[in-house]
Amino acid sequence: MTSTQPPSPHDTPAALGDRTAKTPVIAFLGTGRMGSPMAENLARSGFQLRVWNRTSSRATALAEQGAFVAHTPAEAVQGAGILITMLADGPATERAANGPDGFLARCPGLIWVQMATVGARWSARLAVTAGRHGVTFVDAPVSGSQGPARTGQLLILASGPDRVRDILVPVFGALGRATVWLGPAGDGTKAKLVLNSWLVDLVEATAEVLSFAGRLGLDPASIVELLRVTPLGSPYAVQKAGTMLAGDFAPAFALKHAVKDAELAVQAAYGLGTHLPLTEALLPRWRHTALEHADDDLSAVYITA
Ligand SMILES: NC(=O)c1ccc[n+]([C@@H]2O[C@H](COP(=O)([O-])OP(=O)(O)OC[C@H]3O[C@@H](n4cnc5c(N)ncnc54)[C@H](OP(=O)(O)O)[C@@H]3O)[C@@H](O)[C@H]2O)c1
Repeated sequence: MTSTQPPSPHDTPAALGDRTAKTPVIAFLGTGRMGSPMAENLARSGFQLRVWNRTSSRATALAEQGAFVAHTPAEAVQGAGILITMLADGPATERAANGPDGFLARCPGLIWVQMATVGARWSARLAVTAGRHGVTFVDAPVSGSQGPARTGQLLILASGPDRVRDILVPVFGALGRATVWLGPAGDGTKAKLVLNSWLVDLVEATAEVLSFAGRLGLDPASIVELLRVTPLGSPYAVQKAGTMLAGDFAPAFALKHAVKDAELAVQAAYGLGTHLPLTEALLPRWRHTALEHADDDLSAVYITA
């Protein structure tokens, strides 16, 4: 899973010049629910930040932390040694890379750390595009939602060339509690797809059993207590059960992104000639629920369970 191969001397920060000076300048694209607290943690850790967000008002709070707010992705990467993307999905990330004012035209030598959940095909496609522009691509999606993003407790599922690992240690250290290096770029995204397939199945099971308990005439809260005190309930399921029963659907992980991730997992399995029957079965109802609750937390699927 991890490699002990030392970084090449050609790839040390010094060898990479100003772009990766001792404290590299970081360009950060996508200051949404996850990106904002992640960028804040980088600023607090002393990194010089250049941020961009499509809706610039969502990035301005970072200026108070000393970040430069750029008007375009291309402007954001000027003078940066490391770029982090935390946009919604593959198409949004590709547009920021290759679209008008995209960052790829301006940044040979950059280390691009792609941390959003974009799926295996998009990750591979972005890696190829990066390579064509002399950019080193690191695929490093995260496990953990808004709370862990705020407290710097994300789990980083990193994959990419060994030579940049040392450079990224302080960066990932500011964002997460642990980094797992999984292999060549793309393996992080594969692991993320597997974990989120597990996550959506678990949330569906939680919603279903609470609804089932209610229909049996039981108090669903008593089931949450049973889950809490037995090995059957995972901490995540118990937490989501609590928000379901409270009807508190303030988004930690938006239902629209959970649907995206379930679709990405199903597509990846299909591409391998196999199926994810559980995940496939929940998708039609989740898509329907998302028509009204796209920006609510994924626990809103309890409403239709
Ligand atoms: N929330 C979680 O618990 C969680 C956990 C792990 C991973 N993730 C993944 O992390 C990524 C970000 O999630 P999030 O929760 O931060 O989502 P979010 O709050 O919806 O933020 C999405 C970000 O993408 C930008 N964006 C969306 N469509 C765009 C487009 N067409 N062009 C340019 N920018 C666009 C948004 O800009 P605007 O502000 O202009 O809309 C915003 O910066 C997603 O891939 C998600 O699946 C989320």
